[in-house]
Order: sequence, then C-alpha cells, then structure tokens
Amino acid sequence: MKIFIETYGCQMNVADSELVSTILQDNKFQITKNVKEADVIIFNTCSVRQNAEDRVMGRISNEMSRKSKQNLKIGVIGCMAQRLQDKLHEMNKEIDFVVGVDQYKQIPEIIENLFEKNTTFQEATLVNNDEIYKDLYPHRGGELNAFVTIMRGCNNFCSYCIVPHTRGRERSRPLNDILKEVEIAGKNGFKDVTLLGQNVNSYFFEGTNFAQLLRNINNIKTIERVRFVTSHPKDLSDEVISAMAECNKVCEHLHLAMQSGDNDILAKMNRGYTAEHYLNIVKKLRKAMPEIAITTDIIAGFPGETEEQFQKTYDLMEKVEFDYAFTFKYSPRKGTKAAEFTNQIDENVRLERLQRLIKLQESITLKKYKEQIGKIKDIYVEKISKKSDLEVAGKSRDFKITVFEGDKSLIGQFVKVKIIDAVGWTLKGKIIK
Ligand code: 5AD
Ligand code: SF4
Repeated sequence: MKIFIETYGCQMNVADSELVSTILQDNKFQITKNVKEADVIIFNTCSVRQNAEDRVMGRISNEMSRKSKQNLKIGVIGCMAQRLQDKLHEMNKEIDFVVGVDQYKQIPEIIENLFEKNTTFQEATLVNNDEIYKDLYPHRGGELNAFVTIMRGCNNFCSYCIVPHTRGRERSRPLNDILKEVEIAGKNGFKDVTLLGQNVNSYFFEGTNFAQLLRNINNIKTIERVRFVTSHPKDLSDEVISAMAECNKVCEHLHLAMQSGDNDILAKMNRGYTAEHYLNIVKKLRKAMPEIAITTDIIAGFPGETEEQFQKTYDLMEKVEFDYAFTFKYSPRKGTKAAEFTNQIDENVRLERLQRLIKLQESITLKKYKEQIGKIKDIYVEKISKKSDLEVAGKSRDFKITVFEGDKSLIGQFVKVKIIDAVGWTLKGKIIK
C-alpha cells in the first residue's frame, strides 16, 4: 500500500513527516513521492495562521474528486488535526482520519482498519504530554540536511500563538537519543544537522542544558555542521552564545524571533523581554561572532498596535539589519488570549503595515547579500541547481544559498567558493581550487 505525505508549516512538521514515514515503513507501508499512485494521502498541517489552514482545506478538496474513481483515503495530521479534531470531519466528510501530534504511532493501525475492516471515520487526538517518540530514528531521504527534534511542545503561551494549545507542554528528548540520532545521520551522509524545537534554548534533560547539548554535539565526528531553530530571546543565555562561538561545528547563524519592537506590545504578546534586551543580545552575538547571520520573525498589526508602536518595530528592524525576516500579518487564532482582545486592527491596516516591513527587509537583505561579494565561503553542496544542470547549489555556514558551476560529484562535499554576485536571496560564486 502506498502513502503520500504532504507537509505544511514549520520544520518541526517536516521532521514529524519523516517520523510518520518511518513509522509507516516499519509497518510495511510504502512511501511514494507520486500523489497519483497513492492509496492514502496524509496532510501534515499547520494552524499558526488562518491562511495556512485555508490552503490545506483547498488542497483536500482538490484531491477528493478522485475518491469516486478509486479507493483513496485522506488523513489529516499535525496541528490542525489537534486543534479541530472531529470538527474536521464535519467540515469535510471526505476526510477519513484525523490524528493529533502525540498519536502518530497509531497511524498504521488506523489505515489498516479503514481498508481491511472497512471502518468509517477514525480519530486519534488524545493529548499525551509525555510522548517524545523515543527510540524512533527517522529514515532520511532527500536533501543532505538532517532535522533532529530535541524537544516537543511549548510552555510560553505567547498571547497570539496556537502552538502551546496544539503541541502541548514542553518536553526534552534524552541526551543520548539525540546524540545517537545525530551520529547516525552523519554516518548516512547528512553532514549538516538542524536541531529542532519550539523553544530550543530551554532544552533540559537530567542536568544537561542547551549549551551543554551543543558542546556534546560538537564532539560528534560524523557531522560537520550544526544549527538550531527556534530560539527565544528570553532564554538565549550568555552560556549559549559562548558555546556557539567556541564550538567550531556550530554555524554562525541564528534565528531569533523579535515579533515586535515596542515594549508594550511585547508585554501584551507575553514575550518576556524588551526591545532593549533584544538589541543587547544582537550586540553580544555580533561581538562573539562577527560573521553571524541573524534572521527573525515579525508580526504586523497585533491587537491595539498604534502607528507609533508599529514604527518602533520598523525602526528596530532597520537598526538590527537582519539577514532575512519572516514577516506576518497578525491572524487571530481562536482559543488564544489575543484573539479575545477587543482592539483588533483593521485587516487593511495590518496588510499595509506588513507590506512596509516586507519592502524594508527586501532592501536590507539585498544590501547584506551584496556585502558578501568578494568573500570566500565554505559551501556544503546539497543538489543540482534548479535553474541549470551545469550548476550546483548549497549553503554557507551563515545560511545563504549559493549557486556555482559544478556537477553532481560535488553533492555532499564542502567546497570553497568565491562570491561574485548576489541576486535576490541567492549568492552566485566560483569554486576556488
Ligand atoms: N498571527 C501571525 N503570526 C503568527 N505567528 C505565530 N502566531 C501567529 C499569529 N496568530 C508567527 C510568529 C512566529 C512564527 C512561527 O509565526 O512570528 O514566530
Ligand atoms: Fe508560539 Fe511563543 Fe511558543 Fe513560539 S515561543 S511556539 S511563538 S507560544
């Protein structure tokens, strides 16, 4: 039986899809990359903004039409499944099963029941705040980056965010499981590892904190690079900054969500830091690692955000000069605190502010990328370039996609490349012998 998995949302979902693939393959199911030959389509979904949910519902409707011609089953897993549970079936009767984020081990049995026992709708959405999928080491495929989950869930309850409601309480994976998974990934040729969690800086397992985890991973011989997402400014300690600077495999790249540059808005978001604190961390990071690339997340139009408060976000972005920023229009999520605030901002105002942020960041990104011209960078070659068979693409330590002339023999190698141009968010280079 063939299963196709379509993934939406963050890298955590990408990692979870690999986990689900592994669970299915261990139970004799086959994973296909061709949706047309699938007996089961699984949508691994995101709830973080309404448009993410709307997109999935649209995709499900597209695939549904084939159900009259073949025995196709459709499943929804991930955050939307956790949030809406059996309501999803009410919204669309063609959805055959819904599985929440802590119940992925049940998917094989659910699929068997649907096909062999001809059961109708199946649901497994029980919250299990202890589930860490211990002893499951994902079979990896595709590009040569390994995503390794180090913790699940979030306790922060930022007032706009649905994640603590869908993914449950924070729990860290045992240190040895993580080390083993990283080592296996490296042995299998995945030399660049990204540690994943909603709030990686609060990793803690039997006396080992995140900085110590980084130092342990740095000693693993089979890998060359490690990075991590997502960091929270309130938990990014000096100890972590030192570990980053001192560990040669930890890349000069940090994703540090700022969300807003106004202290009242940050307080209403329940973020636990001020704009000054944020700026101070940026300074420390750049002092410790002058070449560090810093990326961020920003929300425009949080409830009650005045023009002046928005301007503070704009100014802070201008001051920090992020290498890249993911900017979002605030989206009210039912069940979160901020959705109850009565001072919601008009949709057009939110959109217009978002557009100003996008425009600002475009010019900063371009400037940052142009500054790379003339530099020599270590590139981890990941694939043949999308645009030309004569070129390969890879990433620098500071997370910039770099394209240059080369063939498939370079894939998986580290090469030195001189940067000759910057086009949008891509660097163009020339390999140096
Ligand atoms: N509306 C808009 N953006 C949101 N994010 C999280 N929740 C919302 C929301 N309700 C953004 C935050 C977070 C990123 C993953 O998504 O910036 O860091
Ligand atoms: Fe959401 Fe805040 Fe947790 Fe990030 S830290 S997942 S924004 S609640």
